Amino acid sequence: MRILVIGSGGREHTLVWKLKQSREVEALFCAPGNAGIGSLATCVPIESTDIAALVQFAEAEAIDLTVVGPEIPLLAGIVDRFQEKGLSIFGPTEAAARLEGSKRFAKEIMQKYGIPTGKFRSFSDYRKALHYVNEVGAPIVIKADGLAAGKGVTVAQTLTEAEAALEMMMKEKAFGKAGHEVVIEEYLEGEEVSLMALVDGTHVVPLEPAQDHKPAFDGDQGPNTGGMGAYSPVPHLSHTIVDQAMTQILQPIAHALQQEGIHYRGILYAGLMITSTGPKVIEFNVRFGDPEAQVVLPRLQTELAPLLQAVSEGKLSEQALTWRKESALCVVMAAKGYPSSYAKGIQIKGNLEMSKQEMVFHAGTKKNETGLVSDGGRVLGITAFGRDIAQAKRNAYARLEQIQFAGAHYRTDIGDKATIVVERGVDR
Ligand code: AMP
Ligand code: GLY
Repeated sequence: MRILVIGSGGREHTLVWKLKQSREVEALFCAPGNAGIGSLATCVPIESTDIAALVQFAEAEAIDLTVVGPEIPLLAGIVDRFQEKGLSIFGPTEAAARLEGSKRFAKEIMQKYGIPTGKFRSFSDYRKALHYVNEVGAPIVIKADGLAAGKGVTVAQTLTEAEAALEMMMKEKAFGKAGHEVVIEEYLEGEEVSLMALVDGTHVVPLEPAQDHKPAFDGDQGPNTGGMGAYSPVPHLSHTIVDQAMTQILQPIAHALQQEGIHYRGILYAGLMITSTGPKVIEFNVRFGDPEAQVVLPRLQTELAPLLQAVSEGKLSEQALTWRKESALCVVMAAKGYPSSYAKGIQIKGNLEMSKQEMVFHAGTKKNETGLVSDGGRVLGITAFGRDIAQAKRNAYARLEQIQFAGAHYRTDIGDKATIVVERGVDR
């Protein structure tokens, strides 16, 4: 197989690294890629949003399968454009990608098919939205309908915060068109978990669960980021909850989409809140999570290329996937200032070797005349294995100590939620 991966982050480095291990893979390209990806695949200087150029490249290079990493090209209809040309591609169509692209669409379909999620209302009128917020009271969650680079969600603990969020989105138009409409949602309490599944239209095969760490600083403080670290499995999440999430959420949503005439093919990512009354959907994403991919894919023993191909052809069987038993934990090293503004081009030094136990996934890097430099907010993701989360954590941080760049910031408490619960002996 000749494979093209689209994207340039840690998720795409992980996809390329894992695909490279498939016997079927004869040639591997990545557009645009990064420095880490460049040592495993041929990087092609085409942006992930330049769909016409990507189609042309896939045709010229006789690509057998294109794997899309990020959501933006999916929402722009890359899958539809490839399919029109008879090119095989892994990911949902533009219509199906609305599950991530429009929070209102996602909420309405969940409501229609009885899929557990927080109560909500959507508004395009500021005064009506304000009235509703005052009626319900705080805590309450305000979400811009469209994509807002991970910044479109305000979890308001007070009415003042909620009003400020409405004003910012609807009056000041801080997110442009994405905030023209807002979804106002019930505040859910519980533990968050990311559950991803392969979906080929009809079959739904779950991956192992992971937990992300979205806030920038230790103790879940500070602004939301794309994700500062992850681990898998999630030991304090019982099998019953995962089974419940499958039968009440992932299978029904795949079925619901089919009923709506949408054949979902690709990865379906459910961001779940495990509440006292069971799992509820916080959001759907239509691609692998980042950094969840950096812990889930290394744990996957099944070869990835045939699996993704089967999904794209609608031929996924309900075969069980096989997993490494050990735990994997990933710590993101970010540039100073991230998730606000940050500098690029900072020199990176240290031990960046990949092994079976430790991987350094590049999230935002490039090579220039001075060597390896940063090229993004999230710069590296250090993943390590261990017999449990605590051991994986020690290994990941020990490895992180061997890597340096000026101003690097990272959380020091990735995985603590799992280890603290286990130490307390809480059994849910
Ligand atoms: P999202 O961008 O939708 O993933 O939301 C960002 C974060 O806001 C989530 O990871 C949650 O921590 C939080 N959040 C979103 N929706 C809710 C909700 N209904 N209740 C409580 N927290 C939420
Ligand atoms: N880590 C969360 C996401 O990929 O959306």
